Amino acid sequence: SAAEKDGYASFMLKEIAEQPKAVADTLLGRIDPSGSLTLDELRITPADLRQIDKVVIVACGTAFHAGLIAKYAIEHWTRIPCEVELASEFRYRDPILGGRSLVIAISQSGETMDTLMALRHAREQGSKVLAICNTNGSTIPRESDAVLYTHAGPEVAVASTKAFLTQLVACYLVALYLCQVRGTKWGDEIQAVIKDLSKISEEVERVLETMEPVRALARTLAGKDTVLFLGRHVGYPVALEGALKLKELAYMHAEGFAAGELKHGPIALVEEDMPVVVVVPSPRNRSLLHDKIVSNIQEIRARGARTIVIAEEGDEAVVPYADHLIRIPATPTLLQPVVATVPLQVFACELAAARGNEVDQPRNLAKSVTVE
Ligand code: G6P
Repeated sequence: SAAEKDGYASFMLKEIAEQPKAVADTLLGRIDPSGSLTLDELRITPADLRQIDKVVIVACGTAFHAGLIAKYAIEHWTRIPCEVELASEFRYRDPILGGRSLVIAISQSGETMDTLMALRHAREQGSKVLAICNTNGSTIPRESDAVLYTHAGPEVAVASTKAFLTQLVACYLVALYLCQVRGTKWGDEIQAVIKDLSKISEEVERVLETMEPVRALARTLAGKDTVLFLGRHVGYPVALEGALKLKELAYMHAEGFAAGELKHGPIALVEEDMPVVVVVPSPRNRSLLHDKIVSNIQEIRARGARTIVIAEEGDEAVVPYADHLIRIPATPTLLQPVVATVPLQVFACELAAARGNEVDQPRNLAKSVTVE
């Protein structure tokens, strides 16, 4: 009903707006004022966490994209090798698992059959399974060794938004907690990240306040057939997520690519006036990556693309090549997906509405898929 939507035109818009609170609630009580993490609820002992020699993440859809981003954070911060796999592929290829593997199953609903079957397989191989889940008492956390709940609150729209942002936060917390118990890299970089993570909900709020031009842009693109999304590093899974949202909601041909792969194929797709969304990494730390993506923007623009550039505030290098520029606050590189995904959600939601689609209940999709 309209009342349940709190005055928003759709549950999706309401849930996008709830993201600052969802993120803050997921952090609540888990970072203490001294900057150390408390995840008592985890129920896997620090001794067990010190034994882990591999992390394997399994998930589907949007939750899989959260897993792809988590891999960058886990490997960079903890130095533990991390694999990410679509839950539906996992058990069918005889994955190498053992007692020292930590399997993380990410699921909003906690009922996705593909993810459940993957975690059952992992437990049969003797691995510990940690669920990152938004639904209390659902099947996936019940069958896991431990659970870290995301506190997004109920998500009604089929396309996941606030659950995704909280999955990212939960993954960062797990990665940082692994650093803490294992004593890895527990220095200035990690302390700075924890500080920035604890403020990230305010940054999400700031992004939401600047979304009007994104909505206006989305409406002008309602007649397009194809939108491409490019990113590098953690911006690559963000590009995949932006494309998935557009497929789900706008029923458009949308594809995400790693920007470095452009020259190996996807650039052949670029046509006159085709919208291409580019997620630009921070110009600060990984400036080499930044320079390369600026060249990519020039390359596609020279071939006629209409460039929609998502870049940090203060990044001036992109300005000459951006037909449309969407600003996001500066964050540490690994946290950027939390802010960079928001404009892509708004973009897809508005474009779908402009095409006359039902954004909360896209055709052919279900909120929770309980068959394999
Ligand atoms: C369905 C939904 C997606 C969701 C995926 C995984 O396909 O339409 O939005 O990302 O399931 O759901 P889960 O509840 O496991 O996160």
